[in-house]
Amino acid sequence: MSSTATSKQIPEKLKRVLVIGSGGRENSLAWALSRSTTIEEVLVTPGNAGTEDIPGCQRLSIEETDGIALAKVCKFKEIDLIVIGPETPLANGLADELRQYGLIVFGPGKLGARLESSKTWAKKLMMEAGVPTAKYWEAREEKEAIKIVNQFNQALVVKADGLAAGKGVIVSDTLEQTKQAIHEIFKGRFGEAGTQVLLEERLSGPEISVFALCDGKEMVLLPPAQDHKRLYEGDKGPNTGGMGAYAPAPLLDENSLQDIKALVLQPILETLCRKGIDYRGVIYAGLMLTQAGPKVIEFNCRFGDPECQALMPLMGPELAEVLQACSLGCLEKSPNLSIQDSYSACVVAASAGYPESPELGVPISIELQQKSNSLQVFHAGTSLNDKGQLVTAGGRVLSVVGQGSNLDEAFQVVYQGMKKVSFKGITYRSDIGHQVRKS
Ligand code: AMP
Ligand code: GLY
Repeated sequence: MSSTATSKQIPEKLKRVLVIGSGGRENSLAWALSRSTTIEEVLVTPGNAGTEDIPGCQRLSIEETDGIALAKVCKFKEIDLIVIGPETPLANGLADELRQYGLIVFGPGKLGARLESSKTWAKKLMMEAGVPTAKYWEAREEKEAIKIVNQFNQALVVKADGLAAGKGVIVSDTLEQTKQAIHEIFKGRFGEAGTQVLLEERLSGPEISVFALCDGKEMVLLPPAQDHKRLYEGDKGPNTGGMGAYAPAPLLDENSLQDIKALVLQPILETLCRKGIDYRGVIYAGLMLTQAGPKVIEFNCRFGDPECQALMPLMGPELAEVLQACSLGCLEKSPNLSIQDSYSACVVAASAGYPESPELGVPISIELQQKSNSLQVFHAGTSLNDKGQLVTAGGRVLSVVGQGSNLDEAFQVVYQGMKKVSFKGITYRSDIGHQVRKS
């Protein structure tokens, strides 16, 4: 059964949700869904050591690759909505598989997920939709790629076509660096993801992330968010999954956000629809605001991490119903999603050695007995060791998130909170939000 065949009737009550994934994004999604009006229980699989700290949340140990076991547990537990967090299961067709069992799933099928899983496919879609993006060239062999660089005679951005955990992009300053990057990708630096390469003209300007919750035809936009991809202060050092974020980012006011919707998001959703792809899930547009106007740097088929952690505390109690309506293809029947009129900031605490070789198994102390309404700690790479002690289990360990009536206030809440978190080798940036902070 295809996703279009699922009923458009909203079930009477949305009580039980399953979130698939184990990161900070999924921890914050579970937290926000558990605050939604009708929700009684949120299951998370495989989750992390923070899952069961959230009232009403329970952790399961089924892997995202095991579609049959996931479908079984959803039937048994009478799950009304499944939210798939990460890109890999989406790219592998988990949403399609679960829909075949008649389950209600928030997340695109395999064809729609190519928006993220093939940069070349996404570029062609942008061309078809008339969406502004950097000029590009495709290459399947090193020789072909080098020829393009020589013809263009300028440093280019080199991208592995497939999924590479956010690390498949090399931005170079010189021709030599571009050629070196091409050589490394074709030698297998990003494995299978790099058997096809995209070369792009290098753009410049501030970056911003915009998220649209889509039901196949219609969409709801979330406040724009700003990510910080580099490991070190001053936006230096290696690229990471993201070291912090804030929202709403003042870089895009409401009018500019509506312009992005008209220029980028609606044309992409319409083009997907025209191709017969019923896209029910998040379209994440990573944009660069260049002198020549906004241009798409990349699309992702899921929420950003850590942008999601910053955004979730701003979501109203209708969130679960809105995601359910997207999954059913009937956004028009859902209540409006209310968004809190405040600012939210998120800072990621990473392990020593992240991103190359994070130190695992290090005990973590969190001395926030009473979390206020405007402060959250979302776990990511955490687990309990055999003594029941909370320890690091990944590169990005947790994020501290705070809200305030302006961004300065929100960051004050976060950095005060961060003082109460400690583990050996803790690494976090103290300049997240430097673009907008006055203090
Ligand atoms: P991506 O994984 O495609 O988001 O790329 C990672 C980062 O590389 C982006 O956040 C940008 O900072 C940078 N980048 C990607 N494409 C370009 C481009 N065409 N011009 C300049 N910077 C880029
Ligand atoms: N924060 C960037 C990403 O999730 O891809």
